[in-house]
Amino acid sequence: MKKIIVTGGAGFIGSNFVHYVVNNHPDVFVTVLDKLTYAGNKENLVGLPEDRAKLVVGDICDAPLVDSLVQDADAVVHYAAESHNDNSLKDPSPFVQTNIVGTYTLLEACRKYDVRYHHVSTDEVYGDLPLREDLPGHGEGPGEKFTDHTPYNPSSPYSSTKAGSDLLVRAWVRSFGLRATISNCSNNYGPYQHIEKFIPRQITNILSGITPKLYGNGKNVRDWIHTNDHSSAVWAILTKGRMGETYLIGADGEQDNKHVLELILELMGQPKDAYEQVKDRPGHDLRYAIDSTKLREELGWTPQFTNFRDGLADTIKWYTENEAWWQAEKAAVEANYAKSGQ
Ligand code: NAD
Ligand code: DAU
Repeated sequence: MKKIIVTGGAGFIGSNFVHYVVNNHPDVFVTVLDKLTYAGNKENLVGLPEDRAKLVVGDICDAPLVDSLVQDADAVVHYAAESHNDNSLKDPSPFVQTNIVGTYTLLEACRKYDVRYHHVSTDEVYGDLPLREDLPGHGEGPGEKFTDHTPYNPSSPYSSTKAGSDLLVRAWVRSFGLRATISNCSNNYGPYQHIEKFIPRQITNILSGITPKLYGNGKNVRDWIHTNDHSSAVWAILTKGRMGETYLIGADGEQDNKHVLELILELMGQPKDAYEQVKDRPGHDLRYAIDSTKLREELGWTPQFTNFRDGLADTIKWYTENEAWWQAEKAAVEANYAKSGQ
């Protein structure tokens, strides 16, 4: 595994993976293929040595460009996507284009040159679970977390396009023998996450003197994992995973949104109730929860950043110290949310 292409490597999770590989695997050269949409940022790649990584600015839907890069690679790790549910509810078209047509374009190039492919996906393809309080065993019984056998049941344009892309990968494995793996991960947090997302939006709201915004009653549960742990899991799957398999990535980090927001407020020295409830997201998934037994037992992976309070405190510190990274975009992001009453 000497030359890898990381699509979406200038985004939040992809750039974390690029740094992870460069820092831990000195024999690997990384080519980042990224369109630098509103979510991509060259700053996320600062500090990478020129002899270890390069950035190619381009679209994963550009078949000649993809072909020219893939023919010279040992593996493709595919992170690039339109990733935000709220945006997909306003305009699904770039989601269909990038998440489905873009994945198809990469799969065809990998098939042509017999290149190893890893597909980064989301737990949202499985739809949602009932809240623990509504379950007889409080969510501890069999089948009460997502596994790789849970039927697909996506809710939003975002998650349905990710589900579609996963199914393309499965078909390319079965029909063409593509050497591919899939990972479905839960909600990531950490530095460099775009400020449209829940945790950085609230941190930067507080830093900007804007009241934090909670959708609906805040009972919705997300299964938080630090993005560093996502990167180590993807590397384990890329290098040790069984071809054709799906691995779920999660770190047992279930928290409801209200609790997360209260913790952010507490860590930033604000009253616990200094937020407002705004219009709920249409079709808002209730709860995600990952059973990562297969990944842990088969590949020996364990998460390292499991203290959510400490991870959140570090994340708050990063946004506080790196205002230049997010400040220019803050007003536009909030103006966009204001249009939908959020
Ligand atoms: P992000 O929005 O921060 O970054 C996406 C990156 O993809 C950006 O750099 C963007 O410029 C690039 N991109 C978008 N369209 C492109 C195109 N057509 N061609 C080339 N590059 C393009 O996303 P993220 O949160 O880092 O998510 C990365 C991947 O991980 C996505 O596939 C997402 O579905 C998946 N994922 C995310 C989470 C999460 O919590 N954020 C959890 C599980 C899985
Ligand atoms: O589960 C994995 C998914 O996690 C990834 O596939 C997606 O790419 C990623 O964006 C994330 O999706 P969510 O929709 O769960 O993340 P988001 O940060 O948008 O919202 C997290 C929760 O917080 C969700 O229940 C909605 C709520 N929320 C969000 C915002 C932006 C609020 O209450 N207030 C807000 O201002």
